[in-house]
Amino acid sequence: MKKVITYGTYDLLHQGHINLLKRAKELGDYLIVGVTNDSFDRERGKLNVRNNVLERVDAVKATGYADQIVIEDYVGQKIDDIQKYNVDIFAIGSDWEGKFDFLKEEGVAVVYLPRTPEISTTQIKQELHK
Ligand code: CTP
Repeated sequence: MKKVITYGTYDLLHQGHINLLKRAKELGDYLIVGVTNDSFDRERGKLNVRNNVLERVDAVKATGYADQIVIEDYVGQKIDDIQKYNVDIFAIGSDWEGKFDFLKEEGVAVVYLPRTPEISTTQIKQELHK
């Protein structure tokens, strides 16, 4: 069984997230989605997350693409998860192109999936402020 893992905040879940999860799932047989914990987001400077981690987990669950959801709590967890869950493929949106190539050392394939144009959480928040 081919296991795929992907990570994100998934705040104000939108079509770009759904497309990404669908494409990630299609890369293998079993999709693990890592959702960032609120404290981890604050640590990495994402200060304006609207949905809390449980709401974001529920939103990811509702897409129907995740076979398993884990909470991402700390820097370095990706390597631990890859080993712990015997992951074959690490997938992430193309805005991260090249940034996760170092994970290949863990024996996974690293795939950058095309981002859906013209939609993002940042953009939705800006629209909400208009
Ligand atoms: N993603 C995507 N297409 C989009 C937006 C996001 O494929 N239009 C992907 C990202 O590349 C990432 C995953 O969805 O693999 C989770 O991204 P996240 O950072 O939670 O969403 P963004 O909308 O990019 O959030 P922000 O605007 O806060 O950066």
